[in-house]
Amino acid sequence: MSKPIHLPKDFCKSAKEAYTLPADCYIDPNVFSHEIETIFTKDWICVAHASEVNTPNQYITREILNESVLIIRGRDNILRAFYNVCPHRAHRIVEGDGSARSLTCPYHAWAFNQDGTFASARNCNNVHNFNKHDACLTPIQCEEYAGFIFINLDSKCTKTVQDQLPGLKESFEQALPNAANYKRVARFTTRTPANWKNIVDNYMECYHCAPAHPGFANSVQVDKYWHKIFKNWSLQWGVAIPSDKSFQFEGESSFSGFWLWPCTMWNVNPVGMLNVIFEFPIDSETTLQNYDIFLPNEDLTQQQKDLIEWYRTVFRPEDLRLVESVQKGLHSRGYKGQGRIMADYNDSGISEHGIAFFHNLVAARY
Ligand code: FES
Ligand SMILES: [Fe+2]
Repeated sequence: MSKPIHLPKDFCKSAKEAYTLPADCYIDPNVFSHEIETIFTKDWICVAHASEVNTPNQYITREILNESVLIIRGRDNILRAFYNVCPHRAHRIVEGDGSARSLTCPYHAWAFNQDGTFASARNCNNVHNFNKHDACLTPIQCEEYAGFIFINLDSKCTKTVQDQLPGLKESFEQALPNAANYKRVARFTTRTPANWKNIVDNYMECYHCAPAHPGFANSVQVDKYWHKIFKNWSLQWGVAIPSDKSFQFEGESSFSGFWLWPCTMWNVNPVGMLNVIFEFPIDSETTLQNYDIFLPNEDLTQQQKDLIEWYRTVFRPEDLRLVESVQKGLHSRGYKGQGRIMADYNDSGISEHGIAFFHNLVAARY
């Protein structure tokens, strides 16, 4: 057991009086090891959109906690997940995404069925007591929820995604009723030098929107922006203003931004794009991120292409530079170790009460 960090259960409970998690929580490898035990190998983690593994034989891989996870839809249409490691001598079974009727390890060609059971290995009949049941892939719990794929590394976990995130599906479907028909049209992957919580913190407030996202600031009506807290998830909602620099639309429109425990964000933007941030923590100061953009149409309009380019070259880099700077600052001898959470009296559009909510959930796991 790694060294636990102790914070009171009511840490950040009162947003108006709250200070952030101590800087050590963002940099200490021991804290990260503890989080692996108490969060990432206990809870459901959203890893992909269901459209990415939509048809029989399709598979994807995801890298998380220095593990590779393989998710495949069988010919029986059942979605299954496995550790992407060969039971023979631990080579990876597959790389990347693809389609396969069976899974064959490239090292010595052991083969596995789509349900993870052992299929064949050369010479195994001549090996004393070779046990085919020991030669299966190790399964991981996997569930589809609200059009997304979730995994759970706790083989004994009995709660469902719905138990972890009650009400999220209904609220998300209200914001984007046809999300299940969306397909991925762009992905920006970054290996971000920042702790996973630093990235969530940045998402949990729009206090930084005006100073740090100049091109975005004039497309959100700050006095009509709110952030509501639910059980293990939250919703930020704002009235949008059309802008040449970002969203071009007529009539009324809005943003909805869902954060879900522990580290995924689903964003429905004012022009009906779904932008998802999948975080895959690697170590205490490294997080792999997929910034994925989904649309219902695959032939993109020029406006959609321009907007994706704006996300790629302007909006997204702005957030990345913010969290990278914070990660460096958390090491500074000049930083006092905790920062004041700027939650105001009316939970306004620039209030940071979302961070207090998140830190309270994290502290409860410590
Ligand atoms: S390591 Fe996979 S077949 Fe040998
Ligand atoms: Fe931002």
